[in-house]
Amino acid sequence: MANDASAVFDTLSPAVSKGSLADPFTPPADSALWRKNFLLGAATASYQIEGAVDEDGRLPSIWDTFSAKPGKVLAGDTGAVACDHYHRWEADIEMLASLGLEGYRLSIAWPRVMDAAGVPNRKGLDFYKRLLNRLKEKGITTFVTLYHWDLPQHLEDRGGWLNRDTAYRFADYADLMSRELAGTVDAWATLNEPWCSAYLGYGNGHHAPGLANDRFATQAMHHLLLAHGLAVPVLRANDPASQKGIVANIGRGTPNSDSAADQRAAHLFEVQHNAWILDPLLKGAYPQDLFELWPGTEPLVLDGDMQTISAPLDFLGINYYFRTNVASDGAHGFRDVPLEGVERTQMGWEVYPDGLRDLLTGFKRTYHNLPPIYITENGMASDDQVTDGHVDDTQRISFLKRHLAAVDQAIKAGVDIRGYFLWSLMDNFEWAFGYERRFGVVHVDYSTQKRTVKRSAEWVAKFLKERKARA
Ligand code: FCB
Repeated sequence: MANDASAVFDTLSPAVSKGSLADPFTPPADSALWRKNFLLGAATASYQIEGAVDEDGRLPSIWDTFSAKPGKVLAGDTGAVACDHYHRWEADIEMLASLGLEGYRLSIAWPRVMDAAGVPNRKGLDFYKRLLNRLKEKGITTFVTLYHWDLPQHLEDRGGWLNRDTAYRFADYADLMSRELAGTVDAWATLNEPWCSAYLGYGNGHHAPGLANDRFATQAMHHLLLAHGLAVPVLRANDPASQKGIVANIGRGTPNSDSAADQRAAHLFEVQHNAWILDPLLKGAYPQDLFELWPGTEPLVLDGDMQTISAPLDFLGINYYFRTNVASDGAHGFRDVPLEGVERTQMGWEVYPDGLRDLLTGFKRTYHNLPPIYITENGMASDDQVTDGHVDDTQRISFLKRHLAAVDQAIKAGVDIRGYFLWSLMDNFEWAFGYERRFGVVHVDYSTQKRTVKRSAEWVAKFLKERKARA
């Protein structure tokens, strides 16, 4: 199939898709990936790597509370130490730079930088200042996410994202950070994946704070999006030179059969995963089909909210991982029907690069004001082991190649995509799955904190070197 992203690199060399390092990554000469200004970087998030959860005045977050509860995180893991990045940040940046990565997407831990009264915590702020200054010295483009899920616990104690006031507290936090860090941040993302915060956090309880009610999920989403909308003008005022955006995870839903009911189920899946976030941001309205899926869950929306939420963005961050095959559940919704015989990762997620291309080209058709896009996360988990000082993560190399090919196809189809951050720079605390699931291109031995560059990182470095040489 000519437009199958998986097949693109196979046509160049039959061996390439196997992911062997010996096969050079040679995207076609006209590929956007060769463009010097197509940013290639890696991403992390504060709670997943920093550790040092009670150092230098950091306050507890909802993830400290949640992961301490028995049965919430695999093997009882917590982010208390994680990759100890709070202490090892200098070596970690050296590693990032030595791989030739041009961009770094990180997040700030809100409970590290201000207290319950909004008083700044200098020690916490200084950590991020040092980090961002060093990244600038290295010439690395910085994407900073303000909220990658570690809500201060004191805000959750007052209702968290169910409390409209949290959105205003977020705007205060955005104000502080953009005043303090202006000039060191190339792009600000307000939120990471509001779908996960709202649905996994308040709708099904798989993530902190662990509440499970669809009505809570829609209200939490509204307050998250409001927080975003309130923060954007603040960021613009304090740091005019940077780009402002938001990061959304997107899901591909495909119908299990041609039946109208299954087609409708796949549509509703994508409404729930994508339009729930993108419609308010880009069209200023919630998709009405969402309330067919979850009758009676309309959030309380005040006058002017939708206008605040839909203010223009400089960029949209897109995180993509897999597709879900669905059928009608016989009532209002959909149910997963896992496909057999397909390639999966350690998470059990299907490897499906075409989904990324198809969603991006679909968004371009649906949203006439679609902002420039950065792929802010894409990657996979595998059960990686260090053998003789090496980690042979060949499935990851193949995964990355195929998804980069999908990105290139979307660009050729007219979508304005400006960069790609792989998830993740290093193995880290994978939320409810703890440390067992390894997403890094660098391996972390959690007993010694030793970092080992995996084959996938060597491969990325090799491509970047070649691209530089050709420029
Ligand atoms: C995304 C999260 C990120 C990481 C990846 C695997 O949903 O944004 O922190 O856990 O999934």
